[in-house]
Parts: sequence; structure tokens; C-alpha cells
Amino acid sequence: MTMTTNRTAAAVAEAERWTAHNYHPLPVVIADADGAWVTDVDGRRYLDCLAGYSALNFGHRHPALIDAARKQIEHVTLTSRAFLHDQFGPFCRDLAELCGMDMVLPMNTGAEAVETAIKVSRKWGYKVKGVPDGQASIVVAADNFHGRTTTIISFSTDPDARADYGPYTPGFRIVPYGDLDAMRAAIDETTVAVLIEPIQGEAGVLVPPPGYLTGVRALCTEQNVLFVADEIQSGLGRTGDTFACDHEGVKPDMYVLGKALGGGVVPVSAVVSRADVLGVLRPGEHGSTFGGNPLACAVAIAVVDLLNSGEFQERARELGALLHERLRALIGHGVTAVRGRGLWAGIDIDPALMTGREACERLMAVGVLAKDTHGSTIRLAPPLVVTEEDVNFAVDRLAEVLATS
Ligand SMILES: Cc1ncc(COP(=O)(O)O)c(C=O)c1O
Repeated sequence: MTMTTNRTAAAVAEAERWTAHNYHPLPVVIADADGAWVTDVDGRRYLDCLAGYSALNFGHRHPALIDAARKQIEHVTLTSRAFLHDQFGPFCRDLAELCGMDMVLPMNTGAEAVETAIKVSRKWGYKVKGVPDGQASIVVAADNFHGRTTTIISFSTDPDARADYGPYTPGFRIVPYGDLDAMRAAIDETTVAVLIEPIQGEAGVLVPPPGYLTGVRALCTEQNVLFVADEIQSGLGRTGDTFACDHEGVKPDMYVLGKALGGGVVPVSAVVSRADVLGVLRPGEHGSTFGGNPLACAVAIAVVDLLNSGEFQERARELGALLHERLRALIGHGVTAVRGRGLWAGIDIDPALMTGREACERLMAVGVLAKDTHGSTIRLAPPLVVTEEDVNFAVDRLAEVLATS
């Protein structure tokens, strides 16, 4: 064993010893990153095909984002929301305009933004729709992933996420994803919102049947229910449009955003909606010490700027077409199914060959970092700054791994 390999082994052992085991990371210890590539403590390079679960849509250390962060650090990084700062208004304006909405409520993590969306929907239900106090219901989809708080895992259908963490928060109705009839049947006069991912990421990049999002929109309008789209993973360029809802020309009542909004530099999340929805909140009813801080806002302004150029959406569209074309050619050669949109793919590996975890371990050994989910699925979601050569590299390595099993 070389000196360099010892560095990885020591770092893995240290992390194992001192951290809770709520993740099962691949044994790679990253020390440097640039664009779509990372380098480990032993100097080995890997193509990052997970991209921080889409938090790194613009790649590692995008110069415009690092520049925005550096400049802001020279001025002010945190004020508290008891005062205003000069990055706050511009960020909220730019993001609202990107979304075609009126107002923004900034938070930090995705789960916090989902919690915010739930609270706002309930308050809207009581104050605007007229739902009797304490009876608001929210319709969600089976196999959802919206975060890890106790309320959010209360409506998870994944036993790993949910078991042992009760008692659970009531007020949610779970229907099969993609099933409009079931959704219609679950909605009644107490329903304040439908909360769904336009593409289910953690479930294995499940794209709903064509017309589903259009149907959800129509149903919500007809029933006076808020359509809340969790675009935390699917949004901000990943699928080849700014939002996954755009593929059906659908506009929800509320966008829930996170991950890439912070450019891979700082955690930034937000709920973006109309004034008649977010306007229900009054001072003191909701907040966050770090939500909307100057550093977060400065970076997120630069993120919105990048999105306004359209360049990343176009890259995701064009390179996504190549990625999916090449992955489809592997069906029957160790792959049983491929799903996804843009630079986002869920790939089912033939369970007779290997597990998803094994596939990721083998990919790591040949320079590609990916993540398994639900046994035999692996996900590829590289930064949108990848080149055609990078996409071919990732698929060639996958083909190699499957062929040598
Ligand atoms: C669709 C979706 N919603 C919410 C979350 C939770 O975000 P966070 O981990 O920042 O709390 C995630 C994270 O993977 C997600 O994919």
C-alpha cells in the first residue's frame, strides 16, 4: 500500500470514529474541487456525478460565485433579520422575477423551506380559504423526499426515514405519485395544498406521466388548493429548463427552492409565491437567524444572474440529450431501465450483476463519483458545467464497470 493510500484510509477511520453514522459515504476523501472534477487527499481525480445532490449545478467554485462571496466577506456577512442589509432586497427581487412571482421568504436548508411552505399553506387555508381551525390537510405523494425534520418524515413512506421517529405530525394524505384520480379523491374542503416534487429525485429520478403536472395544476385551481412544487432538487437548470414544471408549461402557486440556490457555497433556500399567499405572514410568526443573511444573498444574487443567462439550462438540455441517448444504449447490457430529464438520470442496474452500491464503488475506482438509491438504482447528476467529453467519460466508465462484472 502506498503512502498516499494511507492518507485516505486514515481520514476514513477518523470520520468513522468521530461522527454519527447517519450516512454511508464512499471511501473517498475530497480535498480540492474545480468545476465538475474533484481531487482526493491522495491526488486522485474524479468526475463528480452527484454534484452535492444538485447543490453544485454550477460546478465547484464557479468563479462568479466565489467572486461574489469574496466581495461580500469584505463588507458584512450577518446582520440578523432584526435589521435590513443591502443585499436582501435585490436578492428577493431577482429571485421573485426569475420565478414570475411577487415575494420571497428566504431560509437556509431545503427542509426548512418545505416546513415554511407547510406553515404558509396552513395559514393561507385558515385565513383565506376558510378551513376550520386545526383541520388543514395537505396531499402529498408516496415515495416523496422533502427532508428530514419530524413533520416532513411524518409523511414519508420510506421506513428508513420514518420508523422510530414518531409520534408523527398529522394533517397529511398520501396518494400514489402520478395518479390524478387518487389525488382528486384525497382532496376535500379541508385541503390547503398539494405538495409534490415535479420529478421525484431520491425515489430514483421518477418522471411522472405526461400531463400529470398540468392535471395537478388544473385540479388545484378547480378545488382552490395551493399547488406547492418542491423544486429543491429538480429546479434551477437541472432538467434543461429553469424549473421542472416548465416542461409542461405549468406554474405552481409556490416554488420551494434550495440546494443550487446557494451555488454550492452557502446554504440558501426559499419559498417563492404570490402576495396573496406569502402575504398571510405577520411579523414574529416565522423566521430564521441565518435566513437571508448578506453572504447568502450576495451568492444567491450571482446564482440568479447565472440562471438569467440561460446558458446552464441549455447545457443541461443538450448534454442531457447525449447522456440519455448513451445510457439508453446500455439497456440490456447490465442496465434494465433509465429515467430522467436533462443532466439527471436514474439508472436501474440489473440486480443479477451487482447492487447499486457496488456499482458506485466500482465507478469510484475508475474515477466517477455517483450515488446509489433503493438497492439497484444509481443516480447521475453531474454539475451543469460538464463537457461532452466528461459525459462520455462517465458513460464509458459505467459501461466498463458493467461489462467487467
Ligand atoms: C426534493 C427535495 N426536497 C427537500 C430536500 C431537503 O433539503 P435539505 O437536505 O437541504 O434539507 C431535498 C434533499 O435532497 C430534496 O431533494
